[in-house]
Amino acid sequence: MQLVGLDIAWFLAEHWQKRPLLIRNPWNAWRNPLEPDELAGLSCEEGIESRLIMREGDRLTMESGPLPEARFSQLGSAPWTLLVQAVDQHVPDVAALIEPFRFIPDWRIDDVMVSYATNGGGVGPHFDQYDVFLVQGLGTRRWRVGPRCNVGTPLIPHDDLRLIADFEATGDWILEPGDILYVPPLFAHDGIAASDDCMTYSVGFRAPSRADLIDGWSAHQADALTEDDRYADPDLTRQSHPGEITASAIDRLHAMTLEALCDRAAFARWFGTHNSQPKYADVDWRPEEPIDHETMRTLLLEGAPLYRNPASRFSFIRQEPGILLFVDGHCFDCEGETAALAERLCEGSVIYLDAEAASSPEVVTLLATLVDQGSLSFYGDDED
Ligand code: SIN
Ligand code: CO
Repeated sequence: MQLVGLDIAWFLAEHWQKRPLLIRNPWNAWRNPLEPDELAGLSCEEGIESRLIMREGDRLTMESGPLPEARFSQLGSAPWTLLVQAVDQHVPDVAALIEPFRFIPDWRIDDVMVSYATNGGGVGPHFDQYDVFLVQGLGTRRWRVGPRCNVGTPLIPHDDLRLIADFEATGDWILEPGDILYVPPLFAHDGIAASDDCMTYSVGFRAPSRADLIDGWSAHQADALTEDDRYADPDLTRQSHPGEITASAIDRLHAMTLEALCDRAAFARWFGTHNSQPKYADVDWRPEEPIDHETMRTLLLEGAPLYRNPASRFSFIRQEPGILLFVDGHCFDCEGETAALAERLCEGSVIYLDAEAASSPEVVTLLATLVDQGSLSFYGDDED
């Protein structure tokens, strides 16, 4: 499916990270990519993040998944909604929904969350930290959007949900299948199913917080420092008040700290590695047996395509003398043939390589490493 009715340059200039936008069915041919009972099935699986939110009068209650299968037959007539995170990692047709939004760089993508609701169901008025494209898949939903919130926005006390206390809408629309509502970070929004069988796909993005960056980068740099790398003052002279930490001592301490964090090249390497950590780092996708290089060469000579694991994160940084490739929290220094390969791997989910790839030992080694760590495979979704 392609987004044909959206002027991307205009969207980026006028709306991205600035103001919400309702986009009426911009697809060439919208088709709902997932059936409601497939979503319910995913919410019963161990290791898949899901929530069930029920509306009883004015009150919303939340249960975390995995849900027992029997739970769905016990739900009464009160409106409810089921939300499942990272469905793109499990359903190729849902992963395909990310492709049209790749005018935003891959490193910013978080996941596709899918919700199912009965008429009147919803998660309540709230704001998120991230940009989201809310794609109406099936049924209809009324979306109301409010102003930009902040850390001081009053919330309704609730154990599980962060609901806005005085939500006032500035926009109010009914979304039909294929319609998209773009909501930038912090903008209040409230979606209430206006029909049964209401499915919404949230194509969500992520942005590192400054606190996470400082935390991660400084811890990384600190790991490499030795005990003897320490404040020193061989030029000390007697100071007028022994109780004072002087301006020159602070200057030196401040400089020591900042100097250790200034290395841009090392920062790029750390950031790419950190940012490509998988969303669910505990899941082990490695194949039972490592691939031997001879098998790899044979498959490449046969022109067998390689498939990226939909749960894997691929990105690269150009940094002299070549390219740093990042895959699932690992960094690979690539030059020449492997640099060209790195760019190919970051293009899309299926990679067709020329048979010549088999004749480069560096290419074979890199591909085998990625297969062995579970990020690449010669088997597509239906062939496992
Ligand atoms: C939903 O799909 O009901 C909620 C999505 C959101 O508000 O982020
Ligand atoms: Co939201």
